[in-house]
Amino acid sequence: MRFLDGHAPGHDLTYDDVFIVPNRSAVTSRFDVDMSTADGTGTTIPLVVANMTAIAGKRMAETVARRGGLVVLPQDVPIDAAAHTITYVKSRHLIAETPVILNADDVMAHAQALIPKRSHGYAVVLDKNRPVGLIPRALPGHEIDLFTDVGSAADPIPVALPADTDPRAVFDALVDANADLAVLTDESGGLAGVLTRLGALRAGIYQPNVDARGNLRIAAAVGINGDVVARATALVEAGADLLVVDTAHGHQEKMITALGAIAAADLGVPLAAGNVVSAQGTLDLVNAGANIIKVGVGPGAMCTTRMMTGVGRPQFSAVAECAAVAREHGASVWADGGIRHPRDVALAIAAGAANAMVGSWFAGTYESPGDLHTDPHGEYKVSFGMASKRAVAARSSGDSAYDRARKALFEEGISSSRIRIDPERPGVEDLIDHICSGVRSTATYTGAATLEELHDKVVLGVQSAAGFAEGRPLPGGW
Ligand code: XMP
Repeated sequence: MRFLDGHAPGHDLTYDDVFIVPNRSAVTSRFDVDMSTADGTGTTIPLVVANMTAIAGKRMAETVARRGGLVVLPQDVPIDAAAHTITYVKSRHLIAETPVILNADDVMAHAQALIPKRSHGYAVVLDKNRPVGLIPRALPGHEIDLFTDVGSAADPIPVALPADTDPRAVFDALVDANADLAVLTDESGGLAGVLTRLGALRAGIYQPNVDARGNLRIAAAVGINGDVVARATALVEAGADLLVVDTAHGHQEKMITALGAIAAADLGVPLAAGNVVSAQGTLDLVNAGANIIKVGVGPGAMCTTRMMTGVGRPQFSAVAECAAVAREHGASVWADGGIRHPRDVALAIAAGAANAMVGSWFAGTYESPGDLHTDPHGEYKVSFGMASKRAVAARSSGDSAYDRARKALFEEGISSSRIRIDPERPGVEDLIDHICSGVRSTATYTGAATLEELHDKVVLGVQSAAGFAEGRPLPGGW
C-alpha cells in the first residue's frame, strides 16, 4: 500500500477520505480474482459478520458460511443455545438451501409469516415427510385467504431433483420449466433442501467456508468477565471453529488477563481479540495470544462511543496502523465497523485487513434474527448496539433491579434503529454479491489477482468531501 506522491496524509483518515488510483493491470476478469484469506478463518470471501444479537443468528451463520464468510455468535448467547446453533449450522447442506417447511394442515397466515425468514420466497408443503407442493410468498397487495390450509392452496412442485444434482443442471432445469425454485430430495424421496436459479448460480461462483470435516464453519464470542476459560472451552467442545474475545476497550488489563488465560488453555482454534485502534494495543493483544486483532473503536453504525467520549480513531488509519504491526508479528487484522459500501471492504483490505467485519448493514436482511416489520416506507428490521441500554438490560437480566438500572445508565450504543430491507437486495446473499462484485472489480483495477496483492499493489490518494460526493451516483438523475 502506498499513497500518491504529495498526498501522504498528515492526519488520520476514514474510508471516505481515501480513493484508489487505477494501476496498469493484467487481471482482466473479475472471476480471476482469488478472494480467499489467510488468517486462519477459512473465509473464501473477506467477510465476517459481527457478534451482534440483532444480526448474528443461525440463519445468518448458515447462509454466510455457505458463500464463504464467517459469522460470530454474540457473547450474550447462553452456552446451550450457542451449542445448538453450532450443531445446526454444521449439519447444513453446502449447496441446497434450508427450506421453510409446512404441514398440509397449516394455514396460509402461518405460511406467510414464515416465508420471509428465508430469501428464496417459498415454503415447501410436506405430507408424511414427502414434499408435495410449494407456497410462494404473497405479492404485496395480492389478496389471499389467510385461513385456507396450505395443503389445498399449494402449487405443484415444478422441478424436483436429487440433492447431488450438479447446480448447473438444476439451473438449466429451472430455466426449462420456467420456474424459480427446485426441490431437492434425498435417496428416500424426502426433502433435502431447495435451490433457486440464483442459488445454483452462486454455487458455481462461491466456495463454502468449511472445516476439516467438510461442514460449514462458525465462530463464537466470549467476553472478558466471569469464567472465560469455561465458556471458551464449552464453545470449542460444541464445535466453534474460532473464538473472539471481545470488549469495547480491548486495550485493558482485564482483556489481557482473559485472553492470556484462554490462550493458555490451548483450545486448538484461532483466537481473535479486540477492539483496539493502536500499534501498542495490537502488540499487547498479540503478545497475550491473539492470532487476529479486531480493529475499530467508534466507526460502527450503532456506536455512540465517539460522541459520548471523544475516544476512537478514523477507521482507515486505525486498520492500516494495526495491520502493519500485526503482520510484523505473524498475526492478522479484522476491520470492524463502519462498512457501508462495497468500497469500504476494498479499502479495509487495501489497508491490510484480512477480513472486514460487518454488522448493521446485514441487519436489514431476511436472514437477520429480528422480526420483519412493515411501515408505509416498506419493510424493516430493528437493530441495536451491543453496548446500548437494550443490550445491557438483556445481558444483566439476572442482576437485581438496582444493578440493572445502574448499568443501563452507562450505555454507549443505539437501542433501536430501523434498518430498511432494500427491495433490490433483501437477502444477505444479495449484499454479499454486491460487496464481492465491488471488491473483485477493485482488484482488477489494482492489477491484483489476490487480496494480498491488492494490499501490496494499491496506490491511494486522499480526497476532500467534495471528492467523495463526486463519486456518488445520482440515481434520480437531474
Ligand atoms: P457496523 O457499522 O457494521 O459495526 O454496525 C459493527 C461493530 O460495531 C461495534 N458495536 C458497537 N460499538 N456501541 C459501540 O460503541 C455499541 O453499542 C456497539 N454495538 C456494536 C462492534 O465492534 C461491531 O462489531
